[in-house]
Amino acid sequence: MAKTPKKTGAERGNTSGRGQRDLTVKVKTARGRKMSSKLWLERQLNDPYVKRAKAEGYRGRAAYKILELDDKFRFLVPGARVVDLGCAPGGWCQVAVARVNALGQKSGKAQGTVLGVDLQEVEPIAGAEIHQLDFMEDDADLKVKDWLGGEADVVMSDMAAAASGHKQTDHLRIIALCEAAAHLAFDVLSPGGTFVAKVLAGGTEGGLQQILKQKFEKVQNVKPPASRSDSSEKFVVATGFRGRGDA
Ligand SMILES: C[S@@+](CC[C@H](N)C(=O)[O-])C[C@H]1O[C@@H](n2cnc3c(N)ncnc32)[C@H](O)[C@@H]1O
Repeated sequence: MAKTPKKTGAERGNTSGRGQRDLTVKVKTARGRKMSSKLWLERQLNDPYVKRAKAEGYRGRAAYKILELDDKFRFLVPGARVVDLGCAPGGWCQVAVARVNALGQKSGKAQGTVLGVDLQEVEPIAGAEIHQLDFMEDDADLKVKDWLGGEADVVMSDMAAAASGHKQTDHLRIIALCEAAAHLAFDVLSPGGTFVAKVLAGGTEGGLQQILKQKFEKVQNVKPPASRSDSSEKFVVATGFRGRGDA
């Protein structure tokens, strides 16, 4: 009898990291390779989350950030309708598809939906509807609302503009992306819904926090273990959307 192939961690949506060997890799500075790329490569090769992502079938280490956030806050439940902004290459979508049961494989559980959007093209992900779109262009939110065709339970954003090398510029850009994501969330979330977004600490995130506090029961800043400790990145998790009051 043919054996059923074992599911990858990505297909199960799990966070287990068992069976890892810890062998540090050193990269030689080859001719033409800058010191900064040597250090980047070395960090990638020795990063346990990069190794896990490879072993468990996730498209990137970012998957573990949303897995860890969801382990704590439990917003990716079967049946949930999810919007994933800045979804390339697709790690968060993979996690969402498995956890909300977007493929309908968990019998007896509600089937959810996952809508992903990114500037870049994304290799198809079974169970997710993905569109290439610059979320900062005029009417981008109208397009997303159209594709969604109704309310969402979760709006999550891992959007980040390409790093400029200037800390404050990067901070302001990510806050602008975050605010745009929050405005979509205010328009499409169902009451009780959740908003998750990546921010880079840098001074102006207070304004966003204030707006979120008016719209949600609870707003928390979290740095999941998978987020590199030397990065100013953190995630704002706003739960219990109060609704638009227009129902
Ligand atoms: C850190 S990556 C996201 C990783 C993703 N969460 C995953 O798990 O694979 C950030 C993404 O934000 C996207 N992005 C940045 N600005 C954007 C914009 N204006 N509209 C749509 N996507 C954007 C980038 O193209 C990039 O793919």
